[in-house]
Amino acid sequence: MLSQKTIEIVKSTAPILAERGTEITTYFYKTMFEAHPELLNIFNFVNQKKGRQQTALANTVYAAATYIDQLEVLLPAVKQIAYKHRSLNVKKEHYPIVGEYLLKAIKDVLGDAATPDILKAWEEAYGVIASVFIDVEQEMYEQTKAVAWEGFKDFRIVRKEKESSMITSFYLEAKDETTIPNFKPGQYVTVRLEIPGETYLLNRQYSLSDSPGKKYLRISIKRESGEQLQEEGKVSNYLHNNMDIGDTIAITAPAGDFVLDDREENPVFLISGGVGITPMMSMLKDIAENQPNRPVTFIHAAKNEEVHAFKLEVKETLNKLMNAEGYFYYDRVTAIDESEHISEGRINLRNFKNLIADKDHSFYICGPAPFMKSMIDQLESLNVKEDAIRYEFFGPSINLKETQNA
Ligand code: HEM
Repeated sequence: MLSQKTIEIVKSTAPILAERGTEITTYFYKTMFEAHPELLNIFNFVNQKKGRQQTALANTVYAAATYIDQLEVLLPAVKQIAYKHRSLNVKKEHYPIVGEYLLKAIKDVLGDAATPDILKAWEEAYGVIASVFIDVEQEMYEQTKAVAWEGFKDFRIVRKEKESSMITSFYLEAKDETTIPNFKPGQYVTVRLEIPGETYLLNRQYSLSDSPGKKYLRISIKRESGEQLQEEGKVSNYLHNNMDIGDTIAITAPAGDFVLDDREENPVFLISGGVGITPMMSMLKDIAENQPNRPVTFIHAAKNEEVHAFKLEVKETLNKLMNAEGYFYYDRVTAIDESEHISEGRINLRNFKNLIADKDHSFYICGPAPFMKSMIDQLESLNVKEDAIRYEFFGPSINLKETQNA
């Protein structure tokens, strides 16, 4: 239990720390990695370089400080992060290391402004915040161990299928031939690779793109091009170029809370941009297999037909549903085909306003951050309630309000 005095100090200093948050967390990561380079086997270095992870951690620590006396408010956010931690095998023993370097960063960056009282209050507060994460994660580890496997497990690539000029699916079966756990549509796995020439192991999350209940797990990966994306797409491109049928990759058990609510039968909109289609495939196929009467509106935006993945699979799946339609938007179309519901330009949800106004829908959105912001803004302008909208980030969560519209 934190004392009232500690709570007051933490709350009153949270805004100053938030203001200098990225500076503090950048310093924090630098000093932590210098002292504990082994942690670079867990963290995604690209996210570090781009400052995304710093911002994500800073946002969370200061949000936690603001709500330090009512941490239950943060539980949904904690759960999402805890899934990511669980999927990366972050353990209880890592927390004191993060705590030590976070405190050191506050002290060194703020200088004289960080009085002993302030530092003591933050040390205590970090302990409380960390124990919330540790408890949630402990429960996740136990559940995962009971239904799936602990840590990383070797899987063999048994099939490789091109879904578009950019996206390829990898079908994975456990090397020890154990059954695949029943994940939830929308969840992801972490792939860990040892790439020749790289000092550290590389970890990336990929959504599962097929429905649960198969004897394989399917991930569908976008090849990245362009100088900057080459770095970002190191794992994806290595999988495309160097991994083939028969090769082994290590993955952790499915994780994530961007999942289809399959207890409901209400109509759903599945809205995706680019490779954001992958979790939608899992959701769409699951609905077709288990809730064929559930109304679905599937909307997907791609640059053009060539990069439009899963075209046939989506069409076949929609045909299995009693009440489903698909709509596709390309930046450029060569010939507009209304029977295929293909249009040119960006997704305009106003076109669906009668449908949206009429029914109690849930909306699932996945794609680049500006795309998601645009979709959410459009839904808000159509008076859709916030709790009807769910979305998934690829990469560390960022504040959508700070994202520029596409
Ligand atoms: C109370 C302490 C902590 C807080 C508030 C925190 C917060 C966060 C947040 C907000 C994210 C981004 C989640 C997302 O991707 O959506 C994240 C991801 C991550 N966290 Fe933590 N974290 C904490 C402790 C730790 C510890 C102890 C470790 C292990 C040393 C760790 C390792 C990671 C890693 C590896 C990622 C994925 C980021 C990437 O790969 O770039 N975190 N954490």
